[in-house]
Amino acid sequence: IAGTEEHDRKAIDELIASLPQSKGTVGPFQCLHQNFWCPLDVLPNVIAFQWHFEAKHEDIILASQPKSGTTWLKALVFSIINRSHFGISNTPVLTSNPHNLIPFFEFQLYGSKLRPDLDGLAEPRLFATHIPYPSLPESIKQSDCRIIYICRNPLDTVVSSWHFFVKKVGSEDQLECSLEEHFEAYGQGKISFGPFWEHMLGYWKESLKRPHKVLFLKYEDLKEDIVGNLKKVAEFVGLPFTEEEEEGGVIEEIAKMCSLKTLKDLEVNKFGKIPLVIEFEKRSCFRKGEVGDWVNHLTPSMVDRLNSIMQEKISPFGLQF
Ligand code: A3P
Repeated sequence: IAGTEEHDRKAIDELIASLPQSKGTVGPFQCLHQNFWCPLDVLPNVIAFQWHFEAKHEDIILASQPKSGTTWLKALVFSIINRSHFGISNTPVLTSNPHNLIPFFEFQLYGSKLRPDLDGLAEPRLFATHIPYPSLPESIKQSDCRIIYICRNPLDTVVSSWHFFVKKVGSEDQLECSLEEHFEAYGQGKISFGPFWEHMLGYWKESLKRPHKVLFLKYEDLKEDIVGNLKKVAEFVGLPFTEEEEEGGVIEEIAKMCSLKTLKDLEVNKFGKIPLVIEFEKRSCFRKGEVGDWVNHLTPSMVDRLNSIMQEKISPFGLQF
């Protein structure tokens, strides 16, 4: 049965059984796989992706940690890449949730099938992942495909992830986990795809080494200068905005279309669920979208603790918030 899904399932089960497990705050269990914590129910998909995905040179892959601005980045990159096919009045952003426009490898594509057929997808193929850089399939690292990473200040990410996973924004079904407990797990690095510092550093270092391969963006920078950052993205993917487009306000149009307010108010994002292994309310993708919301939630000692982790783990590499 070598080479079949059945064979894969067996081999994956055996591999998973050998890994350390820990109870997480956002899901029942997570496993330590190649130095990152992965929700147990997502891990088979991660492994299948690692084994089978074949990158093409034209592929564009969005990478992030959960709650760092992934949904926003998906809408923006989709709009930049497809701007010659669609105008602002007929863009699929109006009728599809961004997670359906650019699917995650580990939640969607390698979910129901361990060997999905991705060859026929329109090029450039657009994908997303939360997997840390060192654990990406070799073909992604070796090919000329490009990676766009979005990073966010951990002080805001920990608050955002608590609202999303634990409080399940807009849902009755809330997990019993205080912000303190969730924060503790976050600070220990025991959160999905964490530790957060390893995740950021993996992509950060690669972006310094190979700037044509990995574009490193910050949520905060996008909030501050969306036009400048959209130009950067467009150049990076080889589709720079023309003078005509710039003068015609195309960049501002894309920024407005993909703003939190516009996306949040679309019918397609207000109702229904999105199956990302676990089902989430689509509206939970959009909360406040602010920089610095942590002041409303974290105690001074929590702030000190996260700041000193950042000082110790990431500042020495020149990455700061
Ligand atoms: P908050 O919880 O701080 O509001 P991800 O998409 O990686 O899950 O990240 C979710 C965070 O991005 C949430 O942050 C969410 O509100 C914010 N967000 C979603 N869409 C956005 C947009 N179009 N512009 C800015 N922020 C957005």
